[in-house]
Amino acid sequence: MNTDDQGKRDGFTSRFGIIAAAAGSAIGLGNIWRFPYVAGENGGGAFLLVYLSFVLVLGIPVMLSEFVIGRKAKKNAFGAIRSIAPGTWWPVIGIMGIVAAFVILAFYSTIAGWTLHYVYLSLINGFKGHDSESLGIIFNEFMVSGAMPLFWQMVFLVLTAVIILSGVRKGIEKYSKILMPFLLLLLLGLCVRSLTLPGAMEGISFLFKPDFSKINPAVILSALGQAAFSLSIGMGALITYASYFPKETNLSNTAFEVSIADVIIAILAGVAIFPAVFALGMEPDGGVGLIFMVLPNVFQQMPGGYFFALAFFVLLSIAAVTSSISIMEVVVAFLVEEFQLKRRQATFITLVAAAFVGVFCTLSWGALEGVTIGGMNIFDSLDYAASSILLPLGGLLIVLFVGWYMTNTQVEQELSNAGQVKVRLFKVFNFIIRFIAPIAIAIIFLNGIGFIR
Ligand code: PHE
Repeated sequence: MNTDDQGKRDGFTSRFGIIAAAAGSAIGLGNIWRFPYVAGENGGGAFLLVYLSFVLVLGIPVMLSEFVIGRKAKKNAFGAIRSIAPGTWWPVIGIMGIVAAFVILAFYSTIAGWTLHYVYLSLINGFKGHDSESLGIIFNEFMVSGAMPLFWQMVFLVLTAVIILSGVRKGIEKYSKILMPFLLLLLLGLCVRSLTLPGAMEGISFLFKPDFSKINPAVILSALGQAAFSLSIGMGALITYASYFPKETNLSNTAFEVSIADVIIAILAGVAIFPAVFALGMEPDGGVGLIFMVLPNVFQQMPGGYFFALAFFVLLSIAAVTSSISIMEVVVAFLVEEFQLKRRQATFITLVAAAFVGVFCTLSWGALEGVTIGGMNIFDSLDYAASSILLPLGGLLIVLFVGWYMTNTQVEQELSNAGQVKVRLFKVFNFIIRFIAPIAIAIIFLNGIGFIR
């Protein structure tokens, strides 16, 4: 709840709760579903290297900038920027964030719905006795079937809305902090199994041995998009979350810890997937269904595979929910604070609108297979619009705002909790957000969309 009955703004309580909530937003399908498939399509090792450098040099500074804006203004993304820069066009960043939130919710809930279906398949032991080929068929038949994926997508969106309604502190914090450590453990278990499959080493060299001939402007833009998507930056989700942080939160440490955790989970997901891909004689560029086709295979070759599979898909669904609530919260906080709606009304409107766009997305491989935008199906074009356009541009505007519109004193004041904590590397941060990040993002973006060569 943004405000309780006494008009006090709700917020996160403990330090661990903050890290858990921000990490809960960052860690999700982006790491475990999206990273492996995008890395697989973009050549593996070289992509990983570019992506990692972007997280360190561009991602962490953008995240920190979002924290500064959110906690200073204590408002939704649009309202926060407007309160710092009244009467300017800067709040347009907030509007872009709302658009991005709907676009991402639409395709995110498609994949989260697939994940829920895989919880169900694990539960009924539906992978048992199937080889790679028939697991591929099971996945493809499900993906194009229409009714089932839509059903699960709606279940997922309603689940997200229910958690949103139970309020920030009680809802988000409670769920995220208990469960994420388990996901990490499971992922480690999966890595061990995957690495000990015969032929696994080929997957490791695919992921860690960069082949620079695979790099081109489009690959670089996808690495930037993947970094932004996975860190939840560029659309105000973290502005919104930071508006619930208490004044004692050490913003720099939080940004650093969350980003590192996010990267570690992505790499582990890669280590769980690629050795298995090669061991099973599959192709790394299998696309959006990669983990759904590969992992059930790996589970079957593990002792206790039934439970591993079930626990994995349950935890992945939860990781997806803790991310999707941060996306939905961007819109809900905006509607509540800017239009004085009740939280219930705002959540309901957001849910219905997201479900509407989401339907088109889920039918991208079924009924709407023939509909393409710029050569991509609906799903791929929404994913591209969000990750390769809206998030990089959002990130660009956010660093420009904090670097050039806000004063150094304002920023330093916020980073140091009004002088309570020492701010290390302020000059480096300032230089990055003023010069390096804006120039780099602009060049990567224009180059990646083919505007400059
Ligand atoms: N970072 C989330 C994930 O990896 C997705 C997300 C994107 C969340 C943008 C919020 C904002 O799954």
